[in-house]
Amino acid sequence: MKVLVAYESRSGRTRRAAEAVAAAVRACGSDATLKVLSETTAEDIEHADAVAIGSWVEGFIVVKVGPAKAALEAIGRLSAMGGKPAAVFCTYAANPRATLATLRRSLEAKGANVVAENASHRSHPDRGAAELAKRLCASQEAM
Ligand SMILES: Cc1cc2nc3c(=O)[nH]c(=O)nc-3n(C[C@H](O)[C@H](O)[C@H](O)COP(=O)(O)O)c2cc1C
Repeated sequence: MKVLVAYESRSGRTRRAAEAVAAAVRACGSDATLKVLSETTAEDIEHADAVAIGSWVEGFIVVKVGPAKAALEAIGRLSAMGGKPAAVFCTYAANPRATLATLRRSLEAKGANVVAENASHRSHPDRGAAELAKRLCASQEAM
């Protein structure tokens, strides 16, 4: 199984989270490819059996806290996912609020089947990565 792990990171925490997800996917016995979200192409999506997509949390004002604008823009440019299993993750400093729900909806709008989500505090970006990867790998085995 091939899993694409794509992330939007400004200062490296979400990249660390993505690296932890990729390592955990490999520990499940699957292939993992890491990509910067904004550089992810239609071919990358096509070649993947499943995707994991992560962003840092960006807030402008308290009611407008969500995935980084750059992440949502990049997801909007991705090609259709045709029911592929997907996981979403984010790193945050204070409170992720609706970030995971917004990521989930934006991937579902692309036709992905979101089976796992995880928010990790920036002080422990790799926390929860193993569980997220396990769920994603299990959803693949069930197919
Ligand atoms: C402009 C800006 C706005 C942010 N807004 C929020 C926020 O509203 N809520 C929150 O929990 N963290 C917020 N953060 C913190 C980041 O989400 C957090 O530090 C994250 O781990 C950074 O990920 P990165 O290292 O991959 O860029 C903000 C950071 C920046 C730079």
